[in-house]
Amino acid sequence: MKENPIGIFDSGVGGLSVLKELVNLMPNEDYLYFGDTARVPYGEKTKEQLTGYVRGILEWFKSKNVKAVVMACNSSSAVVYEKIKDEYDFPIFCLIEPTADFVSYLNAEKIGVLATSATVNSKAYTKAIQKINPSKIIFEIACPGLVEVVESNKSDTYEAKKLVIKYVVPLLEKGVGKIILGCTHYPFLGHIIQDVANDKEILIDPAKHLATKVSESLLLFDLLNDQEKGSTKFYASLNMSMFVEAGKKFCANIDNARELKIGEITRVVK
Ligand code: DGL
Repeated sequence: MKENPIGIFDSGVGGLSVLKELVNLMPNEDYLYFGDTARVPYGEKTKEQLTGYVRGILEWFKSKNVKAVVMACNSSSAVVYEKIKDEYDFPIFCLIEPTADFVSYLNAEKIGVLATSATVNSKAYTKAIQKINPSKIIFEIACPGLVEVVESNKSDTYEAKKLVIKYVVPLLEKGVGKIILGCTHYPFLGHIIQDVANDKEILIDPAKHLATKVSESLLLFDLLNDQEKGSTKFYASLNMSMFVEAGKKFCANIDNARELKIGEITRVVK
């Protein structure tokens, strides 16, 4: 079991920001990364749609004998995780709780969350943080357009900066002390957000807290791989060249990505 791979998925390249943290902490593991580029953006989909997508992906991972799955996507973490977390024999990890835990004990009273419409509408971050510390005041802002900017490798353009200003300035006006990057695509824009906020310490990236949680849990269950060197196989469901181009920022070895057609993952669920 220890030798089995870890599955990790997102709607596209966003989850690579999580993969990077996982590989930093657990370089000996084998990873299977799936970016669902045929159905991005997840943040604009309904709960029913997202549940169907996630089930298909989890079944595919099951057919690959994974020992654990990491949801490197806030939208599915916020909307689908609670429903499906106990449906499989392997542990499934999501982004919300480890970050809520961390944030609840910070000094900042007001916390901002930048996220997709699906995540914001679920209020998952607000609920998880206030469950631990009811005195925290949370402002969640939906940021349509940011995922598309990252997927099309336009993170360093004027268009990206304009959108960031539009979403970040209202949060700053509320006086937030910290901003959670509540979508795994947004670390690709982290430098712009820091510039707009004029604060290098303002961002919280849930990927770091999730990666810590995964490594602690695998250690606890004696599931860490003790091979000398790990590997990553990349799959995407559409637009391979775009996926590889945009993903290079986080993963030098993404060149080996191959196409996994939606039919291949929906077939296993039927
Ligand atoms: N990166 C995902 C998230 O964290 C999905 C974004 C999207 O496809 O809308 O929410």
